[in-house]
Amino acid sequence: MREGRELEGEAGKGRREGGAFRYWYCTPNSVFSNIQSYFPFVQETQYMGNKATAVAKTVATAQSNGIAMSKVHVKARHSPYPRTEDVKRSTVPDDKVPWSVPFPDYKPVDYTSPGILKGPVYADADIGQLKQKGITLSFNTLDGKINRCSHSGEYTVCDGIPRNPQGRTGLKGRGCLGRWGPNHAADPIVTRWKRNEQNEVIKGSDGKPILEFVSVQRKDNGQWAIPGGMVDAGEVITATLRREFSEEAMNCLEKSQQEKDQIEEKVKKLFDNGVEVYRGYVDDPRNTDNAWMETVALNFHDPDGTSVGQVELEAGDDAQGVKWTELSGNLELYASHIDFLKTVAERHNASW
Ligand code: BGC
Repeated sequence: MREGRELEGEAGKGRREGGAFRYWYCTPNSVFSNIQSYFPFVQETQYMGNKATAVAKTVATAQSNGIAMSKVHVKARHSPYPRTEDVKRSTVPDDKVPWSVPFPDYKPVDYTSPGILKGPVYADADIGQLKQKGITLSFNTLDGKINRCSHSGEYTVCDGIPRNPQGRTGLKGRGCLGRWGPNHAADPIVTRWKRNEQNEVIKGSDGKPILEFVSVQRKDNGQWAIPGGMVDAGEVITATLRREFSEEAMNCLEKSQQEKDQIEEKVKKLFDNGVEVYRGYVDDPRNTDNAWMETVALNFHDPDGTSVGQVELEAGDDAQGVKWTELSGNLELYASHIDFLKTVAERHNASW
């Protein structure tokens, strides 16, 4: 979808469109809120009779898809599988990652974690069991409140089971991911310039100003990361970004109702102006042949250190630590987070 490009579709139907985003959805009353929640790049929408029109705002995605493509399945072929000691993926050589390359001996390990098989609210049921009951999940579409569309376009469904659009991972089933197919997350990248006591911006060895971002240390694996999280069914991405930041970087779940309201108000204001830096597939260690992570990352930058730069940080929920961290190419971060930060550094012409 190109900048300024208009799309038209019939209410109640998805529509295929070339480029990175192939589907959009409209139902008479919720057409625009739906389009904007799943595709925040859509700037303007109009609804007249049975016709819906959406105008695209940015082309960031096409570029950022390039980031994901450059490192296909590095973390997503790693063993042991996360949160296990002995689940080992079958080996997939680099050249055999694409499904288009024949690999007759490919025998992926079948693994879905016991926690997911118990059927928590955020997880789908087992496809085999659903089949027996005559129920099929609707892939490549908005399935009730569940967004089963991929940011990278239509994915293949073989025998009722989605196939990872980026290729083989050495493991089939869902691993510890709840949804078959895409599992959607959102990542708020909150940045400010690094300053000294005189409030002057500090420069790196490359002569460029240094940026800092709010990072959290994940409880599940101890790695530092952007304080992102999963998009709940029916939730708009902007709400996920605010919720995750308030929970992980401001510990709002442990606060009184009054403090919670104050945090919510503050974060709402701070997160008013975000710029999308990535939307798409993520090389996440939890990915499998049939379930994978996708995210939308937005940058909230504080140019003079007077807004987001001043939030009081306190780790909470899934985070055990929180701090301002210098952006640099040497950081070791969770999943593809380093790629998003590189884009942010380039956008601000900051030291890397
Ligand atoms: C994390 C996000 C991350 C996504 C994909 C989510 O669980 O919270 O920060 O971008 O997974 O790796």
